[in-house]
Amino acid sequence: MSLINEQSLKVIGDDRGQLIALEGNKDIPFDIKRVYYIYGTQSGVARGFHAHRNLKQLLICVSGNCDILLDDGHSKETVNLKSPDQGLLIEGLVWREMHNFSEDCVLLVLASEYYDESDYIRCYDDYLKQTRK
Ligand code: TYD
Repeated sequence: MSLINEQSLKVIGDDRGQLIALEGNKDIPFDIKRVYYIYGTQSGVARGFHAHRNLKQLLICVSGNCDILLDDGHSKETVNLKSPDQGLLIEGLVWREMHNFSEDCVLLVLASEYYDESDYIRCYDDYLKQTRK
């Protein structure tokens, strides 16, 4: 089974342009408790390098593009997020890295929980141990 759970977001378009509306527990399979976005990422910078114990997230590149690498401890897959109607759902114990941000990239993240540093696994060796329990 692929690690990449892509969601095709419903576009409400007319002759003025496009609009996407996302409602928690309707368009997205969780309550949205937190929203953050990453932008102005410097050239050559990669981010992430962690897993979450208990967090669901939907990632959307609302401008530009970037690569998201997902790793479940057995295999790795990379997806290029390049369109505002392309959502990437990440849940479960998955290591994630973000690479190759375009200069205009704005990566929007909808999250199921408030920020909680204790939910993070930031050491890859610890992550691998957790996946092999
Ligand atoms: P960091 O985890 O390094 O970001 P990334 O995973 O994208 O590389 O987060 C950078 C800083 O921002 C760190 O001090 C934690 C803080 N932060 C919050 O305060 N709230 C949040 O929702 C997030 C995602 C990060």
